[in-house]
Amino acid sequence: MKAMKKILVLGGTGFVGTHVCEKLAREGWQVTVPTRRRAHATPVLHLPGLTVLELDVHDEAALSRAVAGHDALVNLVAILHGDQAAFEHVHVALPQKFARACLAGGISQVVHVSALGADSLQPNKLPSMYLRSKGEGEAVLLQAAEGGSAGAAAHKGFDLSILRPSVIFGEGDKFLTLFAKLQKLFPLMPLAGAAARFQPVWVEDVANAVVACLKGANGQPSPRIIEVAGPEVLTLKEIVQLAAQASGVAGGSGRPVIALPTWAGRLQATLMGLAPGAPLMSLDNLDSMKVDNVATGKWRGLASLGIKASALLPIARQYLGR
Ligand SMILES: NC(=O)c1ccc[n+]([C@@H]2O[C@H](COP(=O)([O-])OP(=O)(O)OC[C@H]3O[C@@H](n4cnc5c(N)ncnc54)[C@H](OP(=O)(O)O)[C@@H]3O)[C@@H](O)[C@H]2O)c1
Repeated sequence: MKAMKKILVLGGTGFVGTHVCEKLAREGWQVTVPTRRRAHATPVLHLPGLTVLELDVHDEAALSRAVAGHDALVNLVAILHGDQAAFEHVHVALPQKFARACLAGGISQVVHVSALGADSLQPNKLPSMYLRSKGEGEAVLLQAAEGGSAGAAAHKGFDLSILRPSVIFGEGDKFLTLFAKLQKLFPLMPLAGAAARFQPVWVEDVANAVVACLKGANGQPSPRIIEVAGPEVLTLKEIVQLAAQASGVAGGSGRPVIALPTWAGRLQATLMGLAPGAPLMSLDNLDSMKVDNVATGKWRGLASLGIKASALLPIARQYLGR
């Protein structure tokens, strides 16, 4: 019989979180998912062994109570848009809080989903608030995994996996699905950052990587940083064209993509930022694209976890083609 694990999944209601929770439930593990609003947990509520907790994960006392009694914590909470304070709150202060809670509660394993392009060693050199804060969050956890800050000699630390995915595609994604939708609606695709390079990775491969880390990451020593990238390097323009191909827009050939020069891309992002709601593309998103979102090869990849990454088009056809 497999050992039963108790896993707390922060951000378990989101796009990646839903796939992660499904896999954890399939392992027969007990899963707890904190959420700001119970209604956000609808996609995971039906899973066997899963408990939803309505709470504010930023409230350290409430978070510590939620963490207690679990064997492992998975963190998938992140934002793509916001100001400096919002990025620090979600990507740096939250890891500080759950790291303290894990150390105090004797939680032995943490799997943290960061992002390709984040760098825990030189976060301040990164081009966007998103990437800088992701790098700082990693640094916080790397230090905590060693047993917390100096002077906290009584703490044992925890086993730490940091996963750095490139852009993630799959059923429920916002990225490819949005590009397919926009091309259904509009005759042209004016695109900022058209030449930016990505290595899109399937959400199932990301979720399998989380599970593999919880199972011991093929014996790789902790702390481990894993670059989670798909088999193809594609520009944003090529990704837009593949979204059209997969969804059959204009017979699969898609709309003409107009690559915007930098100034026009920044103007478009500024205007989008003025509209209510989350922008399609913010200035900070454009800043993130100044560096390639491609595996550096300096760290291990999915293959080190025994995962063969899937290509985009055959899978995108299955969910965009409907
Ligand atoms: N999607 C991608 O292409 C991609 C690429 C690279 C890296 N990643 C990383 O992968 C992880 C998961 O991404 P995802 O696409 O699954 O994200 P997502 O769908 O936006 O889900 C994030 C979850 O975090 C919670 N959350 C969001 N903002 C919060 C806030 N301010 N305070 C507390 N909780 C908040 C939400 O839970 P509730 O609403 O239930 O509270 C939400 O379910 C993130 O670390 C992300 O940076 C994603």
